[in-house]
Amino acid sequence: MYTQSFNVQDGQAAAPAPAVALAENAAAQAKFDAKINADDKIEPQDWMPDNYRKTLVRQISQHAHSEIVGMLPEGNWISRAPSLKRKAILIAKVQDEGGHGLYLYSAAETLGTSRDQMLEGLHSGRAKYSSIFNYPTLTWADVGVIGWLVDGAAIMNQIPLCRCSYGPYARAMIRVCKEESFHQRQGYEALLVMMQGTAAQKAMVQDAVNRWWWKCLAMFGPPDSDSPNSDQAMRWGIKRISNDDLRQKFVDATVPQAKVLGISLPDPDLKWNEQRQHYDFGAIDWDEFWATVNGNGPCNKERLATRVKAHNDGQWVREAALAYASKHRAVAHKEAA
Ligand code: 3HC
Repeated sequence: MYTQSFNVQDGQAAAPAPAVALAENAAAQAKFDAKINADDKIEPQDWMPDNYRKTLVRQISQHAHSEIVGMLPEGNWISRAPSLKRKAILIAKVQDEGGHGLYLYSAAETLGTSRDQMLEGLHSGRAKYSSIFNYPTLTWADVGVIGWLVDGAAIMNQIPLCRCSYGPYARAMIRVCKEESFHQRQGYEALLVMMQGTAAQKAMVQDAVNRWWWKCLAMFGPPDSDSPNSDQAMRWGIKRISNDDLRQKFVDATVPQAKVLGISLPDPDLKWNEQRQHYDFGAIDWDEFWATVNGNGPCNKERLATRVKAHNDGQWVREAALAYASKHRAVAHKEAA
């Protein structure tokens, strides 16, 4: 269902003789390498190495899962937003995240994996999604901080993906990044307003920043030295900037924004390093990160259960859409006959 995998190999075609197949493969590999070296895009109909395809399906499907699970922490606040304006903005933002998931599932489907397969991976707990969405949203300030810091980190990571070597992913990311930019700004603006409010409102913002800061730094993924996928993904032009370099760019960009906001960042080791021309920062708790990635964060079980329930509750909608489409096809055939 919903598959767009038009480039799946045709199983019916007669297999070429081994020597011919080897020569064809070498030629295809050389053409692929030349495209990667020239910074051209690989498109769904192009030959690609199996591992390139697998890496993309892994990354794009994890990314799509992150977008739709990412709707849940903020979705909790739609019915409790403090004004009609904030509610309208939040609804639009959460809806955008659902749309991002759909673009990304579609991009992954062009690699020959069906949406049902990807969703099965998510719902069974086999597939990963971003660690950041397994933490609770305790106050309204969390919604602003997610916009500012989580979406801010997401943009930092995703801008380079607009130049990813796989065409459908790169093109999806251009649109996603435009929308993420609005998400980041609305979060920052909401916090600016709260920081002009009462002492209790300011304390609420500071508390939310304290809880989210380190989780956002970890969100960029393990240090480069512990990142098994980075080297190959960089050689293939899937990733353009390493986990550690993106994390550093995020810290450097965010510290001045925190100053304007008037909050402190919860890291005693955070200081400008004149020699490096970057901010130094303290140690990230990687044990906590891996526990969360492996299903033992504060909200993993709740997030997955909510997602599975939403999918099951929507089954009748998918069935109705398919029945309607097949009825239309039958009418069109009858009229054409
Ligand atoms: N959460 C969960 N798992 C993570 C992770 C995180 N924050 N960071 C890394 N991992 C996982 C990787 O998926 C990989 O697991 P796998 O090999 O079993 O798939 C393992 O940890 C080792 O990490 P690597 O650095 O070797 O993995 P990658 O090279 O794939 O890099 C990544 C990880 C930087 C997240 C990269 O996959 C990426 O850039 N993905 C696309 C962007 C994305 O998925 N962002 C998620 C957030 S989306 C979002 O925030 C929505 C927005 O609306 C707020």
